[in-house]
Amino acid sequence: MAYEEHIQRVKQRKAALEVELGDSLAKHHSIVLEIGCGHGHWLTDYASDNSNAFCVGIDLIGDRIDRSNRKAARAGLSNVCFIKAEAGEFLELLPAEVTIESVFVLFPDPWPKKRHWKNRIMNSTFLDRLANRCKKDTRLHFRTDHEGYFEWASERAPSLGSWHVDQGGKWPFERETVFQSKADSYQSMILKKA
Ligand SMILES: C[S@@+](CC[C@H](N)C(=O)[O-])C[C@H]1O[C@@H](n2cnc3c(N)ncnc32)[C@H](O)[C@@H]1O
Repeated sequence: MAYEEHIQRVKQRKAALEVELGDSLAKHHSIVLEIGCGHGHWLTDYASDNSNAFCVGIDLIGDRIDRSNRKAARAGLSNVCFIKAEAGEFLELLPAEVTIESVFVLFPDPWPKKRHWKNRIMNSTFLDRLANRCKKDTRLHFRTDHEGYFEWASERAPSLGSWHVDQGGKWPFERETVFQSKADSYQSMILKKA
């Protein structure tokens, strides 16, 4: 694809996302966010259990988002929506009046090769950007079955200015995700917005 064409596509995608976010979040100034929601099982059940929260799940893959929205509709839920979006673009275009009250990153892509670690969602640049949209004391819940990713994130967590490790923090809601059901074991970490 020619460079100009690529730029044009990104512009169109972001313009469409901005409109969708404006429409979907018009009445909601505080959201629970799941990044990389997959087929939406986890967040649908969370929303059902937390009727006072407005929940937003995002994922790169449109088919997963469509299935997630169908699942939420079948469950009759009006406090959850699923949006096709890349996490960085979502943060960039999230309406200014919306703050994030809780974040879940469950079994994110592990990017096992060292040269790809920069793509991990738990990288410090992304976490700083995320923190800018979060309330004080917002919890970021991270869970992975990839030992290398967990170690990598744990080593970096103490040097994050915008987040502290919430030692002993309680995982707020247990329901197996699709990837969790396939994992032999997993580890969890909770970060608290400074
Ligand atoms: C390994 S799957 C886990 C799905 C689900 N959380 C689970 O535990 O079953 C990771 C998901 O994150 C999505 N994803 C990866 N990078 C993303 C990004 N930058 N923004 C939004 N979604 C992303 C992928 O499309 C995929 O559906």
